[in-house]
Amino acid sequence: MKTELLELRGNEGDAAVISRASALLREGGVAAIPTETVYGLAARADCEAAVRAVFKAKGRPQDNPLISHVSSLEMWERCVEGVSEKAQRLAEAFWPGPLTIILKRSKYICEAVSCSLDTVAVRMPSHKAALAIISETGIPLAAPSANLSGRPSPTTAKHVLNDLEGRIPLIIDGGPCEVGVESTVISLSSDIPLILRPGIVSLEMIRRILPEAELSASVLREPQPSERVESPGMKYKHYSPEAEIVLLRGSLKAFIDYIRPFITAEVWALCFEGEESLIPLQCLCYGKKENAASQARELFAALRRLDELGAKKVYTRCPEMSGEALGVYNRLLRAAGFNIIDLEGMGEIEL
Ligand code: TXA
Ligand code: MG
Repeated sequence: MKTELLELRGNEGDAAVISRASALLREGGVAAIPTETVYGLAARADCEAAVRAVFKAKGRPQDNPLISHVSSLEMWERCVEGVSEKAQRLAEAFWPGPLTIILKRSKYICEAVSCSLDTVAVRMPSHKAALAIISETGIPLAAPSANLSGRPSPTTAKHVLNDLEGRIPLIIDGGPCEVGVESTVISLSSDIPLILRPGIVSLEMIRRILPEAELSASVLREPQPSERVESPGMKYKHYSPEAEIVLLRGSLKAFIDYIRPFITAEVWALCFEGEESLIPLQCLCYGKKENAASQARELFAALRRLDELGAKKVYTRCPEMSGEALGVYNRLLRAAGFNIIDLEGMGEIEL
């Protein structure tokens, strides 16, 4: 299959690009589209065959459900068995934006989207072109991140092309994603609102609206083989470059002391901006130490770049484990296969 790449240029030509994508999607095709978080691989959420094509193109495990994207509250109501008052308050505070809300699924959303669970995850993205494509299609779009399953999520159209060229017919290029990590996922399907995946909408921000919200245990630690996980996505190795990632928690000095014996051509450091000259290894940066938004924006591109550079092992500076940075930490912990070394005995974190 030939993969066509159409660029949005922020001018009148964009309307034709959006119409092309919407027409393809309406016919039951799949297309990669930009969102403010990461690129998504979209298909109409009411069509079993279209959704199956998404799973196939990504090589996604059959038990990992997809997020449905809507462009209006009316469209959301079609997806679920009733919008609770809590859900409404969250949507008011954070939509359109990087928050996904799980509620009971309506029959309108096909079973393949939710892998037969009785719930459905929905979000309204804030990206203008994404909203325009959903609205013109007129149907909620199921869209997982547009990477090959297991690889870091794509934050540019080039990343999508690298993973999915020849596997999908169309990629809409909207430039680099503003947020850079996937949406925060919260389940409202039982009494306690539970964050299943942290993102740039933090636990603290959510607690301002729903003070009783909790973080799922699987956010911070490896699920045990026997354990039932609330979010199927959390049990898979994720966001992984080819290189082995080791997260080193502690000060820059402790980091430098630790890595000194490991200086070889295939070993790299992934650090914060401005630290390169102090670290005796080849370095790549992912954002500024005190700026979680910059880390989120740059992380996945840095992980992909390390593969291009032939890195075999990557010692990585650990971000903060709270607030907006928790989403970055969660992705790195999974990219590292939970290999984290606590250099200074800082111990467990409480949230
Ligand atoms: O920012 C995002 O959320 C991006 C963009 C494209 O919108 N999408 C995204 O989709 O990250 P994906 O498929 O890569 O991640 C969806 C996550 C998975 O961890 C999945 O297990 C979880 O949401 N999920 C989806 N439906 C669920 C459900 N009904 N119950 C529990 N978890 C669910
Ligand atoms: Mg994904």
